[in-house]
Amino acid sequence: MQGFFASLRMTALTTTRLNMKHPGLFITLEGIDGTGKSTQIRGLVRHLRECGHRVRVTREPGGTPAGERIRAILLATSTGKLAPQAELALMYAARAQHLAEVVRPALARGEIVVSDRYNDASLAYQGYGRKLGTAGVRAFDRIVCGRTQPDLTIILDLDPGQALARAQGRETRRKSRRGRFEAQGLEFHQRVRAGYLAIARSAPGRAKVVRADQAVGEVQTAIRELVDECLARHLKSIRKRG
Ligand code: TMP
Repeated sequence: MQGFFASLRMTALTTTRLNMKHPGLFITLEGIDGTGKSTQIRGLVRHLRECGHRVRVTREPGGTPAGERIRAILLATSTGKLAPQAELALMYAARAQHLAEVVRPALARGEIVVSDRYNDASLAYQGYGRKLGTAGVRAFDRIVCGRTQPDLTIILDLDPGQALARAQGRETRRKSRRGRFEAQGLEFHQRVRAGYLAIARSAPGRAKVVRADQAVGEVQTAIRELVDECLARHLKSIRKRG
């Protein structure tokens, strides 16, 4: 896989002519709060860089100066109650900026973009968690994301009771305050988890569920296998087109 992106950069012109979606690879990590996503992302990015890939790590909501300001509004408990539609619109406002400033340019340069959450989070949290339904979320998605969809989505799955206990342990260790979403409680996170599992069923080729109740190293091995398979497929399809 060494030199993979050197070959991608060489084929960038060809892929543009063929109107391919993007020459880079877009990987997203998802899951309810407390599944250990941040630790797993660090391990995955280390692995990819050791293999010689150019990797752009980013997150949502956030990833840009404006997006981080929107994130602060969305996550602070001091924001209080937001209308679910306002919450959804803010998520997509941050996402639009993130796509324009970070994701699309990096993909166009042939980099691997690893995003801590993306549009499946809106389906799961706002569509299922806030009960907005999927049609409204998909409408925003068509306008904002269009064809910029992940090539691979890893969904870390954990029982919400266990996940919330982990998230609370993290807050105590870091002496941090609980965010607006972590404060939502068990039923909300059960709906979000059901949303993620429904996404995995509806897009089995792209969205892969990894059990997060295993040891950190085992979760990492499962993630790396999925990512390596996806990279190999991507390279094969680029070569075929080239
Ligand atoms: P995190 O970055 O620590 O995962 O926190 C982000 C929180 O925002 C998390 O609770 C999930 C939530 N969220 C949504 O509700 N909808 C979204 O579209 C995204 C990206 C995140």
